Amino acid sequence: MTEKPFKRRDLLGIRELSAEEIEGILSTAENFREINSREIKKVPALRGKTIINLFFENSTRTRTSFELAAKRLSADAVNISVSSSSVAKGETILDTALNLDAMQPDCIVVRHSSAGVPHQLARVSRAAIVNAGDGANEHPTQALLDAMTIKEHKGGISGLRVSIIGDILHSRVARSNIHLLTKLGATVRVAGPKTLVPNEFLHLVDSGLEVCEKVEDAISDSDVVMILRIQRERQDSAYFPTLREYSIHYGLTKDRLALARKDAIVLHPGPMNRGIEISSEVADSSSSLILDQVKYGVAVRMAVLYLSTGGSTSNE
Ligand code: CP
Repeated sequence: MTEKPFKRRDLLGIRELSAEEIEGILSTAENFREINSREIKKVPALRGKTIINLFFENSTRTRTSFELAAKRLSADAVNISVSSSSVAKGETILDTALNLDAMQPDCIVVRHSSAGVPHQLARVSRAAIVNAGDGANEHPTQALLDAMTIKEHKGGISGLRVSIIGDILHSRVARSNIHLLTKLGATVRVAGPKTLVPNEFLHLVDSGLEVCEKVEDAISDSDVVMILRIQRERQDSAYFPTLREYSIHYGLTKDRLALARKDAIVLHPGPMNRGIEISSEVADSSSSLILDQVKYGVAVRMAVLYLSTGGSTSNE
């Protein structure tokens, strides 16, 4: 692992990455993956580096896996949540970030409910900024771990048919995945309630994106079915009549999954609304790789922290 495949300091979104950079992060993650199944899950790659996790929004998977990733690479990891920070006393996000940056961390991992906050911080901070989810904009490490899961089970991404179902409008996971999967040569079909499928991706139609009228059309013959969470916290008006209606017309049931290829895999970024966007029968079936996604998330975040902070693996 001598040649660094990712020469940027910050990871702000998949939109600005080339296919080569994405492949570079994934192959670095592949190298780190094995560490997570060792009895002693620790290497000195980021010894002496400091990572701050600055989360202004709730998180179970992303925050924990960034912390584990940092610790498994021997970095010092500090977690800050909004309820315990001085933002609660009226300090601006920018001032909070500048104060944290003054303590000379090597990387600040940030999640915020507003799109563009990581980009704003990247302009003023000395530390590398990694986007852990900014509003409905992007969630780059989620798309990378989804890609790692797909590659592991399908052998590659190019030529696959991936359907993304649900609340595309409010989904940073959908945005990052649409960019990543089309860059790596997959056909991506999106479907959901008309009110939750925006027109913003239409320019990608020549790059492998299809917008389907019906969920069944999107799922039909898919290799991968990616189900999105209904994001009630980002919906300021009614986009569909009731959750029951949503579940009936758009939820992934065993019958709808039967339209996909026999060996299709099911992904969901979590947290899941069981019985709404996905039935428990599907979520707990052998087609579901939801916990594999979480597992690969640690290796992907190890790779991202390593590449962003210029760590060394010479002592591994
Ligand atoms: N997928 C995801 O971002 O989960 P968390 O909100 O738990 O981090």
